[in-house]
Amino acid sequence: MTQNIKRIGILTSGGDAPGMNAALRAVVLSAEAAGLEIIGFRHGFNGIYQQDYVRLEKADVLHIIQLGGTILKSARCKQLQQAGGAAQAADILHQLSIDALIVIGGDGSFRGCQAISAFYPGQIVGIPGTIDNDVDGTDFTIGFATALDTALDAIDKIRDTADAFERTFLVEVMGRHTGYLALAAGIAGGAEQIICPEYGDKVDLDDLLQDISQLKRDFGAGSYIIVMAETMYPAGAQALAAEITARSGTECRACVLGHLQRGGSPVGSDRILATKLGAFAIEQLLEGNAHMMMAGEQAGQAVLYPLVLTGDKKKQADPYLLKWQQQMLQQSEPQN
Ligand code: F6P
Repeated sequence: MTQNIKRIGILTSGGDAPGMNAALRAVVLSAEAAGLEIIGFRHGFNGIYQQDYVRLEKADVLHIIQLGGTILKSARCKQLQQAGGAAQAADILHQLSIDALIVIGGDGSFRGCQAISAFYPGQIVGIPGTIDNDVDGTDFTIGFATALDTALDAIDKIRDTADAFERTFLVEVMGRHTGYLALAAGIAGGAEQIICPEYGDKVDLDDLLQDISQLKRDFGAGSYIIVMAETMYPAGAQALAAEITARSGTECRACVLGHLQRGGSPVGSDRILATKLGAFAIEQLLEGNAHMMMAGEQAGQAVLYPLVLTGDKKKQADPYLLKWQQQMLQQSEPQN
């Protein structure tokens, strides 16, 4: 059933991800083709409270598909978490005659949607945008593929200097509490070791040192790259590298990739995913199917998935590759 929707609000929230602009573009183009008005709130949910918004038209989004970041800016929003914050946001949306709201972000942003939905009668739709890929209900989030390529570019370069100096390198990647990025970057970068939460919540230093020395015994001096997910060593990557240097007798350097993984022009697959999900969100809104749903993709198909379930953490970093990496490591360990 076609809904009587005239004015849609949209915002980008939480950690920005390459491809958010591509999603904005698809939403605006699809909406305009359907005769809808799009209002972009700036700085995430803060734009609702501050009534900081702009009307987005085709001309505003025509040439943004290749841009990283987000033209609407992003932020995390404290006001929404405060008592009465969600009701206030819903009131403002109502005053501005916003018939439906689209939120591009990760699971924290989707929790914000849930809070507002208790007071807001319009449809609220999520589009998954985060480099962490930690959102249930979609195989990939917008930005993950680009962040992976950025990390890989860095790891390949680190390999050159690590080889030249026969050094060990500890490369820390983002990913919040999950290892999607660490596993993918480690596998594709041919890392000797991957340290991520899926293998346990602590770094097993003895095991790591034994593995480094075994590899050196088997193959002689050479480079050894460890890809580690952030949060795995609370004292930080530099401290762990110093510890490895002290205890292994081989030089270890740390390289924290940090926020550079969030930037850059989105790769083709992120642009395509963003375009598909943006278009699908508008189509489903118009059909009235999308209330408190996320527009995601599973096995190549655009799907709707309840926003309330997106943070359940059921999706796992590829178990096949996690196991394979472990097996390869065990093969290089001494057999008793
Ligand atoms: O959620 C995206 C992300 O980049 C995480 O990988 C990281 O832990 C976090 O955001 C960093 O947040 P901030 O930019 O606020 O430091």
